[in-house]
Amino acid sequence: MRTLIPMTEPAFIPEDYFSALAPSEIFGEDGLFEVDLGCGDGGFLLQMAAHYPERRFLGIERLLGRVRGVCSRAASRGLDNVKVCRVESRYFLEWLLRPGWISRLHYLFPDPWPKERHHKNRLIQDDFMPVLHRSLADGGEFLFKTDHEEYFLWVLDRAERSGLFRRGNWEEGDFFYPKTDFQLQWESMGKPTYFARFIKRQ
Ligand SMILES: C[S@@+](CC[C@H](N)C(=O)[O-])C[C@H]1O[C@@H](n2cnc3c(N)ncnc32)[C@H](O)[C@@H]1O
Repeated sequence: MRTLIPMTEPAFIPEDYFSALAPSEIFGEDGLFEVDLGCGDGGFLLQMAAHYPERRFLGIERLLGRVRGVCSRAASRGLDNVKVCRVESRYFLEWLLRPGWISRLHYLFPDPWPKERHHKNRLIQDDFMPVLHRSLADGGEFLFKTDHEEYFLWVLDRAERSGLFRRGNWEEGDFFYPKTDFQLQWESMGKPTYFARFIKRQ
């Protein structure tokens, strides 16, 4: 029989998947927080949490093994400002969280679903833009990075025609923003990263 290893402390498991959560139910008290959607192995999330101990971070990831790995690394580094939830990204934003609590939402190097018949699998769609807008706090930001130029243009297009966001300035080095292992590896091959910052309009 397989032994189940219990999730370590930073794992956040909602008691009820059908009611919208307040931040206090995730972090113990209300207040804005940052989200890393599809946090993968947590390289970015954990560096951010260590760099900004006064902020709170939630990683969203659908693969159990990755969630366990991020949780155990967060625990071994003594990070008490980070939680990780195993859930599907859109479901989380649309149904599991009360609107208006995310100060910055990071969406880094998602699968670009390059084939046209798979574009429907992309998270960023016209009908996703109001979901994203609602989840952000006033003045909240959506930060996006990809290795895939066509997906990048797709996202710019959806953001612009939604009318819900304005493009913010973002130059490399403007603020602390660690590169993921994937980005470092990609750029070491001389390939470009595309990135954009969108600010919620009222
Ligand atoms: C290509 S990896 C990028 C990981 C990380 N953001 C980085 O930059 O290194 C994409 C991650 O998103 C997760 N993922 C993909 N679709 C998801 C979804 N709909 N909901 C939650 N996680 C998802 C995958 O399991 C994977 O860990």
